[in-house]
Amino acid sequence: MQILAANDNAIARAAKEIVSGNLVVIPTETVYGLGANALEGKAVAKIFEAKNRPSFNPLIVHVHDLEQAMEYGVFDERARAIAHHFWPGPLTIIVPRQENCVIADLVSAGLPTIALRVPGHPVAQALIQESGVPIAAPSANRSGEPSATTPKHAAQSLRGVEGTILAAGSCQVGLESTVLDLSEQQARILRPGAITDEDLQPYLQNVEYDFGQHERPKSPGQLLKHYAPSIPVRLGAVDVKEGEALLAFGSTQFMGAEGGGFAHDKAESSFQNLSETGDLQEAAANLFTMLRDLDNPENAGIAVMSVPDVGLGIAINDRLSRAAAASK
Ligand code: TXA
Ligand code: MG
Repeated sequence: MQILAANDNAIARAAKEIVSGNLVVIPTETVYGLGANALEGKAVAKIFEAKNRPSFNPLIVHVHDLEQAMEYGVFDERARAIAHHFWPGPLTIIVPRQENCVIADLVSAGLPTIALRVPGHPVAQALIQESGVPIAAPSANRSGEPSATTPKHAAQSLRGVEGTILAAGSCQVGLESTVLDLSEQQARILRPGAITDEDLQPYLQNVEYDFGQHERPKSPGQLLKHYAPSIPVRLGAVDVKEGEALLAFGSTQFMGAEGGGFAHDKAESSFQNLSETGDLQEAAANLFTMLRDLDNPENAGIAVMSVPDVGLGIAINDRLSRAAAASK
């Protein structure tokens, strides 16, 4: 990681890095974030690779104001009132994705919702403005380690990762943002943070904690809803059965289809390739979009070729096996 003191010059350079699909560690008022262009699935895949996460959790998208947030998410009256009052600040709001939302599907891990936040830190604000794109960013630490609140900690935790760190001292809040789910009628706090339920009370009739009243789960990710296809998903496929769609990985040159012909001659609605060249970043970027495209009533099921269980492949396989378990 290249560490730059966050002056105007460095911010301009970092903005170029974001636009070109590279990783930038950004200071926010809560913790440092590991940021990437939220519009580019391959850039977002680099985040998961760098964090070494064994699964894809949806990420928070950082934007410069409510107006930009409303391009990507559907804000009802209560969500708008809360955003007006608490943004910029340490509050993340989950809302339904806009129908034509241009944010990469990998950011939402295939879910129909999106987490948005307007950070208060001037460097984060400047970077979002200058790059002109929304920035997806989880905390800037490797999976299983505490969130980084100083540039040094981020650099240590992300040793060996390629990217730029915008250094601006330690974070004011030092704790991740409160995550408030407003995607349904019942408001829920999925992760406690600096903005408390008492702060939120005046804006909501009632708010529930969704990390369990008696016991906190080890990570908020445990409560997460997962995308579940509506047709059966069959893993480790070496052939395609009649009526099945194929989600391929790598070459399908010689893969036949039951009932005649080659798998790759099927229509797009029943044949997609995560990555013809076997590139795991590309596969991660395509995963949720392709699963959803194949998940149509024309197909009896989805056969998925195996993906190597290394690096990003571990997270891809985690999601595929959840999809297979939850499908039908
Ligand atoms: O303070 C923060 O929030 C920092 C800074 C960098 O902004 N970011 C951060 O991101 O803590 P991360 O990825 O470590 O945590 C995001 C949390 C996760 O618990 C994730 O499961 C949840 O937000 N989340 C994101 N999108 C979601 C969605 N669509 N539905 C449910 N939960 C979601
Ligand atoms: Mg985190």
